[in-house]
This record gives sequence, C-alpha cells and structure tokens, in this order.
Amino acid sequence: MITYPLLLETCVSAEFTDMPKLDDPIHLDMYQGYLRQNSFLRKLAARARRIASGFSFRSEVYGYEWGDPGSCPPLGYVRDHFVAPFVDASQTALEIGPGGGRWTQYLLGFKELYVVDYHSKLLAELKKNFGQPNIKFIKNSGSDFPGVMDRSIDYLFCFGTFVHLELDLIDSYLTNMRRILKPGGNAIIQYSDMTKVMARSNKGFSKNTPDQMRQLVAKNGFEILEEDLTTLWHSSIVRFTA
Ligand SMILES: C[S@@+](CC[C@H](N)C(=O)[O-])C[C@H]1O[C@@H](n2cnc3c(N)ncnc32)[C@H](O)[C@@H]1O
Repeated sequence: MITYPLLLETCVSAEFTDMPKLDDPIHLDMYQGYLRQNSFLRKLAARARRIASGFSFRSEVYGYEWGDPGSCPPLGYVRDHFVAPFVDASQTALEIGPGGGRWTQYLLGFKELYVVDYHSKLLAELKKNFGQPNIKFIKNSGSDFPGVMDRSIDYLFCFGTFVHLELDLIDSYLTNMRRILKPGGNAIIQYSDMTKVMARSNKGFSKNTPDQMRQLVAKNGFEILEEDLTTLWHSSIVRFTA
C-alpha cells in the first residue's frame, strides 16, 4: 500500500513508502487528492481570495503543492537559469511529464511546444489551463515520443518526473531523446539525487545519483554542458546536448 501525504508549499516533494513502477497509480492518485482538496466551492473561495490579493487564477495549478517557482526561491532559480534564458519564439520545445503545467506556463513563448505525459488524465488537466494553439499534447507509453519528428527539438525540459523513474526507464528515455533532439539542442532534466538526505528519506524517489546520471547521459551519446548539484535539496539537474 502506498501512502503519500501531500505536503503544503514547502518546496519539497510528496513522500512515498514504496518506489513507484511505471503502471503504479501514484500520479493519478496524487491528482485525485488534488481534485478532492480543490472542490468547486473551495476553488471559488480560493479564487476570490487570490483576486482580492492580486494573484492570478493560475495560482491554483496542480503541482503548486510541491512549490511555486513564483514564490519558492530555489524553484525560481531553476526557472530563471534553466528555463527563461532558453525560451525562443523561433524554436521548438518539449516537456516530459507536465502535470498541471507548473513549468509549462514558462514554456509558452516557444514557437511550438510538445507536452508528453504517460497519463491522459494529467494531459486533460493541463488542457484545462493551457489551450494555446502552439501546444501539442502527446500521450506516450512511458519513454517514447510518438509523433515527434527526428532532430526536431531545440529544448527539452523535465522536472518532477524523472525523480520517480527507475534507471532503466531513464535509460530508455535518453535513447529516445537521441532521436528527437537537434544537434546543439539543450535537454534539461531534474533527477533524484541519493547523495542528498532528502532524496534518501523519500522512498518514492528513484535510486539515482549524479554519477549514475552522468553515465547514462554519456552512454546515450550526449555531451554534458552543465550540472547543478546544489540548488535543490533532494534532486539535481543536468543539462546536455546531442
Ligand atoms: C509529480 S508530477 C510533476 C508534474 C510537473 N512536471 C510539476 O513539476 O509540477 C509527474 C508527472 O509526470 C507524469 N508521468 C509519470 N510517469 C511518466 C512517464 N513515464 N512519462 C511521462 N510522464 C510521466 C505524471 O502523469 C505527471 O504528469
């Protein structure tokens, strides 16, 4: 039995008692928990409070329970360093595991944006907030990019998803990324870092480390451009190119 109490906005992730498998319902269950906590009446009251205090509707995006990049400094740094400088209206981007769009909102300035998720329900949630014509919604089978052309992606981003993926699935994703990433394009992935105590205490996080991640990235023929091992308490970030 998996338990994962949703945490308040503390810039940390949910807590699990078992490592989730690809078909595990954890993501759907977390989403259901969000829906329960955000019933129509609660949402209405929250919106009224947000409007009164000058915040936008988007403040209710599914995912803010793990931290809002707009108010959580480490996540704000990730946005300002790994997302904002790369947004380019002439380029194509792809996000893996967008959830409710906590990061998608910062990627809308790309000419074209693919959002790839294993769970249709989460893609439907995303669509509620983000219906822009430049977004292409893709349901995948766990590590593939159906309908994405070879060497067509300039920028690839993933946050909050690889932290839960087993190493063989990460390996499979990296192999498939090799097909779609343009030479010189940027891929930015946040992953579980078991050298950090907060990853070790979160049993839903995969047994990954910077060493293992480097090996997988190199094995799949990518060149590492940058690593951030310090900003986040339970995970690290790697940026690499094809
Ligand atoms: C914890 S949520 C994070 C959502 C969002 N990136 C954020 O940071 O708020 C994980 C997301 O990854 C999706 N997901 C889980 N396994 C996946 C996989 N193998 N491939 C693509 N998406 C996956 C879930 O459906 C969900 O949308």
